Amino acid sequence: MAQTCLRGRILAFHAEPQSPDDDSAHSYIEDGALLIENGLIIARGDFADLETQLACDCAIVDHRPCLLMPGFIDTHLHFPQVQVIASWGAQLLDWLENYTFPAEARYSDAAHAERMAVHFFDELLSQGTTTTVAYGSAHKTSADAYFAEAARRNMRVIGGKTMMDRNAPPEASDTAQSGYDDTKALIADWHGKGRALYAITPRFAITSSPEQLEAAGALAREHPDCFIQTHLDENLEEIRTTKALYPDAPDYLGVYEHYGLLGPKTLLGHCLHMRPREIGVMIETGSKPVFCPTSNLFLGSGLFDYEGLRARGAKCAIATDIGGGTSYSMLQTLNEGYKVLALKDGQKLHPYRAFYWMTLGNAVALGLEDKIGTLNVGSEADVVVLDSTATPAMALRMETCKTLAEELFILQIMADDRSVTQTYVAGEPMKKPR
Ligand code: GUN
Ligand code: ZN
Repeated sequence: MAQTCLRGRILAFHAEPQSPDDDSAHSYIEDGALLIENGLIIARGDFADLETQLACDCAIVDHRPCLLMPGFIDTHLHFPQVQVIASWGAQLLDWLENYTFPAEARYSDAAHAERMAVHFFDELLSQGTTTTVAYGSAHKTSADAYFAEAARRNMRVIGGKTMMDRNAPPEASDTAQSGYDDTKALIADWHGKGRALYAITPRFAITSSPEQLEAAGALAREHPDCFIQTHLDENLEEIRTTKALYPDAPDYLGVYEHYGLLGPKTLLGHCLHMRPREIGVMIETGSKPVFCPTSNLFLGSGLFDYEGLRARGAKCAIATDIGGGTSYSMLQTLNEGYKVLALKDGQKLHPYRAFYWMTLGNAVALGLEDKIGTLNVGSEADVVVLDSTATPAMALRMETCKTLAEELFILQIMADDRSVTQTYVAGEPMKKPR
């Protein structure tokens, strides 16, 4: 199998940076090389050292002076909301009803779902995102289209068909039984096939009957190696409605707890208005809160307490939440995340922590750090190439940049897909020219 060697400035994290001046959590190689074979990284080091080991047919791609980093990981987004992004709505529940459910209803049409899947992954790869954790619509066709398109691109993705059997139009819904049966079939077809993994996906308590959450709990017991994803404590009206629908639950998280849906592989989108008991249960079960800053701003949902949850031991993930979220870019997600956290008691998202978060941090939240997020030897060769001078304004700002942390902060605040010069998936260049 042919080797590829990517040359550039290599940056990767091996631990969570503990403070702004913590230089011990990352490795940086000024003139580095990543050697790739069979989709895996087989060596990483100084170009001068590795050059002598290259096979004679090895293709060298010189990306200097760009940065090579692990591909970005987006841990919460909605595949059938590519035509929902930027839709007017007062707040969560009416936005779902007026825009989201009608758009998702169209994904019963396999041809529509397949066309949208192409655009979805084209866009994400152009933004440097190589792993997605996505919700489908309630239709099996949506998850089939998502996984099939990801498989064509050999991407490591997680996803699932949404389970939702009430409080939504029938054409956007399933039933407790069909949700169970379709999920079962999708797990058989896709979980562990190539790089795909399945997430059992009850949308949230409002749109699932007790019978459906029972079925989701049964699926979780029958498939403990699958992920579970849902939403929690995003919006005050959502919390009130949940309380009315599940009056016996101690709180919102108590609903999911009751049906056996919590654990280290459970991803809880938003987690903005949590009660102390909920935080305790989330930590005890190892469930992961997912911060979605652009969505939280767009829908006016609230401010995520990153430092508070981290101090309690939560392994937080970060995500775009397309289409409540307003940008496909994980870089722009970090930009808005920086501002959201500044408003939450002056929390500061330092660039080391930010770049750790969307690579190794998200991989740790998914339990996939042996496969993605590090550029370690033996891991999968998902790599993003970043140009810190991609726009005239960035180039001008970079003239005065003195440190790596400063450069990363410029990328965090100013960059988007224009800074992503290439995205490699399992060693293959995947970014299409615009
Ligand atoms: N809660 C339940 N469904 C959704 C969704 O599609 N987007 C957001 N932001 N919150 C949700
Ligand atoms: Zn969501």
